[in-house]
Amino acid sequence: MGRAELISPHGGPLVDRTGASKEGTDPAVSIVLTPHQQCDFEMIAVGAMSPIEGFIGEADYHSVCDNMTLADGKVWPIPITLAVDDDVAGKVSVGDRVALKDDAGRLLGYMTVKEKYKQDKRKCATKVFLTEDLAHPGVKVLMEGGDTCLAGPIDVVTVRHDPEFIEHRLSPARTRAEFEKRGWKTIVAFQTRNPIHRAHEYLTKCAQEITDGLLIHPLMGETKGGDIPADVRMRCYTVLIESYYHLDHTMLSIMPAAMRYGGPREAILHAIYRQNYGCSHFIVGRDHAGVGDYYGTYDAQEIFDALPGKGLEIMPLKFEHAAWSKKAGGMVSGKTFPKIEGDQIFLSGTKVREMLLRGERPPVEFTRPEIADILIEAMKGK
Ligand code: ADX
Repeated sequence: MGRAELISPHGGPLVDRTGASKEGTDPAVSIVLTPHQQCDFEMIAVGAMSPIEGFIGEADYHSVCDNMTLADGKVWPIPITLAVDDDVAGKVSVGDRVALKDDAGRLLGYMTVKEKYKQDKRKCATKVFLTEDLAHPGVKVLMEGGDTCLAGPIDVVTVRHDPEFIEHRLSPARTRAEFEKRGWKTIVAFQTRNPIHRAHEYLTKCAQEITDGLLIHPLMGETKGGDIPADVRMRCYTVLIESYYHLDHTMLSIMPAAMRYGGPREAILHAIYRQNYGCSHFIVGRDHAGVGDYYGTYDAQEIFDALPGKGLEIMPLKFEHAAWSKKAGGMVSGKTFPKIEGDQIFLSGTKVREMLLRGERPPVEFTRPEIADILIEAMKGK
């Protein structure tokens, strides 16, 4: 099975910014990346954000906000910026070599500053997130970030210090190699930031029917408070896969990206990432990457039909809201079974949380008992 048989990375060859050495003389200025910027740094470093090679410049910033493309016309939905506070910005000039560090002060790499510009946060909020409301977690991160952006390609010494889930933290080059080893040509990626419930499982299994393999690819970077912690989710994924999936057709790897909760625009970003990881198909269900009531239920699907230029190579697999139907005795969606009052098992996130906190398993039609038990155990004492 030749390399050419897998989908190409987005917009050119797979980027690899790793492999830089620690430089003899320390740069005068060190920039401590925020937790979100560390996630972006890692995603750029390993090529998950190909064709981006570093934090983006001003022409790209405005083009991304206005047109959903980089300045060269390639689809890109959300600016990836290194926004810094004024005191840091004041110390840096274009042409400077700066060190990039994590929040514990450890060296990650370097950047030669090609541009320094003021970002337009209100424009970014309204165009990308479709709201300026600070209650939106993505808008909050944007608004609380610095006003000045530094741009340039990054040179990476250490992708991340003490990374979690190392055996499941595969770079795009490694997922691609693994797909080739397994002889998979069509691979469907499943994005999630939650434990996998029956509705999620249904989407993944429908998608498995028409592809060679499924990549369960949970987002494990920064998420908002209140989301289930990464280690608990990881236990859920491994137990679920061992118990309920066909191991010959299923693979688990984590994606170290930060969550932006940008609904439709973020769905495009999630799809680009997965194309870079070598996936040909991408599941987009209801309210993908959404939060609160900022986006319509299927906006994140419709945006794929409104992309500029040739759009994306990876194919979205769009699913309607799925739930268990008592009458049908299985998972259904609006496409497969008509709605009957009171027939479908629907539980809100709040309701599920309350049940788990009381030590009660939600119905098996909603979540597998093994997963309920892991969540109940994790919530003890909360
Ligand atoms: S997300 O932020 O990663 O989108 P989540 O982990 O809840 O949140 O969803 C993962 C994927 O499953 C998304 O594509 C989402 O649209 C889809 N999804 C979640 N629940 C359902 C459901 N009941 N019916 C259809 N699609 C769903």
